[in-house]
Amino acid sequence: MLTENQLEKFEKDGFLVIENFITDEKCQELMNECDKITDEYTIDEIKKLPVFEANVGNEQAQSRDEYFLTSIDKIRPFLENKASEIIKESKGDEVNKQIFNKIGHALHVFNPVFREVTFCDNVKNVAKSLNFIDPLVLQSMYIFKQPFIGGEVKIHQDGSYLHVTPLKVTGIWIALEDCTLDNGCLHFLPGSHKGPLTHRFIRNPNKEEYDQGKYLVYTDLVAPIPDEKDFVPVPVKKGSAVIIDGLVFHKSGANFSPKSRNIYTFHMYESKDAKFSDNNWMPYSETAFLPLYKN
Ligand code: FE2
Repeated sequence: MLTENQLEKFEKDGFLVIENFITDEKCQELMNECDKITDEYTIDEIKKLPVFEANVGNEQAQSRDEYFLTSIDKIRPFLENKASEIIKESKGDEVNKQIFNKIGHALHVFNPVFREVTFCDNVKNVAKSLNFIDPLVLQSMYIFKQPFIGGEVKIHQDGSYLHVTPLKVTGIWIALEDCTLDNGCLHFLPGSHKGPLTHRFIRNPNKEEYDQGKYLVYTDLVAPIPDEKDFVPVPVKKGSAVIIDGLVFHKSGANFSPKSRNIYTFHMYESKDAKFSDNNWMPYSETAFLPLYKN
């Protein structure tokens, strides 16, 4: 269970680092498992994969968004934004797996090794310490942040992408390698979880636009996105977990260094007496939304 100090810190900052959350061996096991998943793709198949960036839609993005929108109950890889340039400049089999951006979103369902980590006692104890009664786990992702090309993740609140009323959402983010200032560690705005949710990312309510392939839209901002200069970097050691409140603002920089920054992350929300918003990007899924524990 979390100590009183840890709980206080989480309440105050909206995030918390827990070192040695999983062992170095387990980190390696998860990375090996990820290799097995990506090894199943031939170079030709990789070249046809979409980049990861759920877009607000244009025709070219349509098939990419379909692939994304139906990924909540599947294990699917996505490519880095720069992948198309790398593919274009490459000859034959030169393209390698350094162009993967992430794998989502049901590793916790279908892969036994990721499943074991997701449902381990340390995760359950975090949820119990945070007073989760009926937590549902969903939206698991392996994120690569590849050397030299790993893209940034812009300032956001996780509740924009996973909306529930009331909004009790927590992310568990596990470093499988050391995360440093150079390879794109997380940055937070401490205490920002006390503010409102600024906007949402939803299925487009405009049927005509939706039918034309503009599937996703951002709702209007209700408050300004905070200034980057107020964010603090949070480098962590391999095996550490970062617990992330669904309302705290965070981001991670691009990776211009020669070292990768592989992590595994997933989310949970309190499902007791809660309403999962049906215009979330991901549809509710009995396959992919799994109870962390039963009461
Ligand atoms: Fe996030």
